[in-house]
Parts: sequence; C-alpha cells; structure tokens
Amino acid sequence: MKKSLIVGLAVLGATAWAGPPAPKAKGIESKGYKWNAQEGEKIEALKLKGDAKRGEEAYEVCSACHLPSGAGRADGTFPQLAGQHATVLIKQIADIRGGLRDNPIMYPFAATLTDPQELADVCAYIQTLKIPHDNGKGDGKELELGKKLYLRDCVSCHGANGEGDQTKYYPVLAGQHYKYMLRQALEIRDGKRRNANPDMVKIIKTYSDKEIDAIVDYMSRLQMPEGGAKKK
Ligand code: HEC
Ligand code: HEC
Repeated sequence: MKKSLIVGLAVLGATAWAGPPAPKAKGIESKGYKWNAQEGEKIEALKLKGDAKRGEEAYEVCSACHLPSGAGRADGTFPQLAGQHATVLIKQIADIRGGLRDNPIMYPFAATLTDPQELADVCAYIQTLKIPHDNGKGDGKELELGKKLYLRDCVSCHGANGEGDQTKYYPVLAGQHYKYMLRQALEIRDGKRRNANPDMVKIIKTYSDKEIDAIVDYMSRLQMPEGGAKKK
C-alpha cells in the first residue's frame, strides 16, 4: 500500500479501516513468559545501524498520529516518542507487530514495517527528535507522595530524570504525557500490558489507584538535562 494512502487512512481514523487482524502472542499472563526474549526481527533490527535520514521518510506515516515533532498528544491517545531510546522503540514496535503488546489502532501501520532495516531507520530518526517540555501533566496535588514512591520503587530503572537506560530497554519517561502514562501504569498493574517487565509488575501490583496517579503525576514533570539522553 502507498504511504500517502496510509497517512490518509490514519487521518480519517484508523479504527474505521479494518486492517489485518493483529496476531496474539503469549505474554505476561502465560506460564514461561520471558521478558524481552532476544529473538526474531527485533534482534535483526538491533544489529543494524539505523539511518536517520531514510528513517525520516518512513516516519511520515507515523506522524499522522504521533505528530511530525514526535510529541504525541497531551490527551494521552498517542504517546510522545521524540528522543526515546532506539532500542526501546524497536522493542515496542516489534512487540506490537508480534502481538505481544496489544495496540489495535496502530497495528495496521506497524504491520507495514516488514523490513528490519526500515524499522532500525525509523527508530534512529525518532531518537534524534527533541523531547518536548510542554507534555501533559497531572493536577499536581500529590507530588510529595509521588516523589516518595518514585524514588523508592522506580528510580533504579527509570532514572532520576526519567532517562531510562537504552542498553536495558528501560524507556525514557521524561516528557511523556501524564494521561498516557496513567493508562499504561494501570494496564501494567492489571496485567493488560502483556509485554511488561515482570520485576516492575511485581512492584506496581501493590499500588492503589491513588498511588499510581500520584507517581505518574510526578513522572510527568521529570525533565532530562539539556542535550537529552546519552545516545550510542
Ligand atoms: C493510527 C495512529 C497511529 C499511527 C499511524 C502510529 N501509531 Fe504508534 N501508537 C499509537 C497508539 C494509540 C499508541 C499507544 C497504544 C497504547 O496505549 O498502548 C502507539 C504507541 C507507539 C509506541 C510505543 C510508545 C511507548 O512509549 O511505549 C511506539 C514506539 C510507536 N507507537 C511508534 C510508531 C511508529 C514508528 C509509527 C509509524 C510506523 C507509528 N507508531 C504509527 C498510534 C499510532
Ligand atoms: C526493573 C526495572 C523497572 C522498574 C523497577 C520499573 N520499571 Fe517501568 N518500565 C520498565 C520497562 C523495561 C518498561 C518497558 C516495558 C516493556 O518491556 O514493554 C517500563 C515501562 C513503564 C511505563 C510505560 C512507558 C511507556 O513509554 O509506555 C510506565 C508508565 C512505567 N514503566 C512506570 C513505572 C513505575 C511507576 C515504576 C515504579 C513503581 C516502574 N515503572 C518501575 C522497567 C522498570
């Protein structure tokens, strides 16, 4: 299918288009689930050197939802992608393509990324985009509680500034929208984000809705020092 047509369909609203049905892989709900198994197209794409210039072209179709800046939307429908580690982007897209992370809205578009080189290219491009500071935030009422919990339970992986860790596939949270993270955190707690890291799930399982709200509000205010995350 032509890229321009895909963009048109995305603008019209992808849900109106009955694309190919997403596969369903065994995730965290299954016995023997292995987080981030090093196999398949993910490994192929990770081995390749992404070309950001070529990736810019491939990103056109993505920009219909995630915006040309990569900033997504504060209403939480579309996550902010700019400056995310390429390793994290490759893992998430491969998981969506493989049916390990359910994303019916995006699946038809992820499905067109069949070439590991194209996947590496588009992720290399997204990683170069600047992380926005005007992302959606929470109401700011429970920031003390949020900070306490973040520093106790999340900072070891997601970092003091929300910088994550590209070598370990820990995502950048700095600049991410409050409403998107709130949905993800609840889905992670409730076992619905099926590609989630089990060590994180174990921690977050004990959280109340109020605690999740507080921590996500705090996370939505994290900012990376100028220059963004350290890139390889
Ligand atoms: C039709 C709209 C749409 C299009 C087009 C689209 N996406 Fe998405 N994307 C989404 C939605 C919705 C989510 C969040 C789903 C959820 O809540 O789990 C998402 C999530 C993601 C994530 C996970 C982000 C994270 O923080 O974990 C990545 C990476 C991503 N998209 C990359 C892309 C790329 C690359 C393209 C182009 C090939 C693309 N998307 C095209 C709608 C879209
Ligand atoms: C053991 C490391 C680890 C810990 C501890 C951890 N996380 Fe995560 N987190 C991850 C990884 C890895 C991902 C990406 C999950 C995947 O593989 O899809 C993630 C993803 C997320 C996301 C979704 C981000 C996105 O872009 O979609 C949110 C929200 C989140 N974590 C919140 C938290 C909170 C809140 C805590 C503390 C209570 C926490 N995490 C603790 C490793 C961790």
